[in-house]
Amino acid sequence: MTGIVLHGGRGTRLRPLTHTGPKQLIPVGGKAISQYVLEDLRDAGINEVAIVLGNIGPERVQEYYGDGSRIGMKITYVNQESPKGIADAVRLCQDFIGNDKFIVFLGDNLLKGGVAAYAKDFVASGADAMLLLTRVKDPEHFGVAEFDTSGRLKAVVEKPKYAPSPYIVTGIYFFTPTLFDAIAKVTPSGRGELEITDSIQMLISMSAKVVYRFVEGWWKDTGTIEDILDANRLILDERLLQSSIAGIVEEGASVEGRVNIEEGAVVKGKAVIRGPCHIGAQTIIGPNAFVGPYTSIGRFCHVENVEIENSILFDNCEVKGIKQRISESIIGQFSKLTGEDKRQSVAHFVIGESSIVTL
Ligand code: G1P
Repeated sequence: MTGIVLHGGRGTRLRPLTHTGPKQLIPVGGKAISQYVLEDLRDAGINEVAIVLGNIGPERVQEYYGDGSRIGMKITYVNQESPKGIADAVRLCQDFIGNDKFIVFLGDNLLKGGVAAYAKDFVASGADAMLLLTRVKDPEHFGVAEFDTSGRLKAVVEKPKYAPSPYIVTGIYFFTPTLFDAIAKVTPSGRGELEITDSIQMLISMSAKVVYRFVEGWWKDTGTIEDILDANRLILDERLLQSSIAGIVEEGASVEGRVNIEEGAVVKGKAVIRGPCHIGAQTIIGPNAFVGPYTSIGRFCHVENVEIENSILFDNCEVKGIKQRISESIIGQFSKLTGEDKRQSVAHFVIGESSIVTL
């Protein structure tokens, strides 16, 4: 099996973070979101993957993953010149796929426990396509599954006004190359895209075998700031199972709970880190800092005289002297957030790359 990871999209609901880079590179738990996707594929035995790049910061994706050897994979990059839909992106990989079975994994989707078991299940099923479905409260925002009375998949509809069921199609799909015949018969939708849902619908009308499984754990589509903060919490809870301290914890500092402190990071005296937290390499925490639960701090940051929890700092940020507790915030790389405000309350920020905020 091979894999296709989609790395495009406009990321409009994640601005300003997506003005300077693709949403899939936003770090949660110390890694880009799409790195979990790639590692899940690798852990399912898939070592060759095509990443389809979009218009926002494609060079950053290539810089981040290179040829893939850093994470034990071989990565081929494919450019999608304009955002013409998921099926269009997949179609661009037809030569790469050849006659193999393959997984399409949207680079902004996260799944508890990865895809290894589902991949085995797909191969054993002999199906042309296998969808992973999950129940949500707002199905109208997704591709929605419709079943017949015997529970067979009858149709999939993209963002319908009235959802035929509460079960939606997650961004993790298993296919055989028959999909390419279906895509060739599909025309662009109202939003001008070649929809993957229409292509699946076409497979169903071609009498191909399309099966589904329900997702067993959580599934997270990281389209909004709230989703990103949720994903950060879920990842820290699921994947940071025990502390790993490669950096230096100075005397007088306190580190509690599950904490990952990378090499070269320093936790200075009178700093408190309460896990689950991730502290990136070469970052300095303190003196006088509280880094609270569910916080991921990137590399080369400096956090001093401040309390921060439930938040994400990209690499190379400076956060100093803020008297409000910072919570539910995301701070883009190379940004500085400093101040001497004396009020005691909670502050909430979403700050894009290379910004300066003084309170
Ligand atoms: C896409 C698919 C949709 C699917 C969703 C999962 O939506 O078109 O069918 O349910 O991903 O994340 P989009 O993210 O393009 O709105």
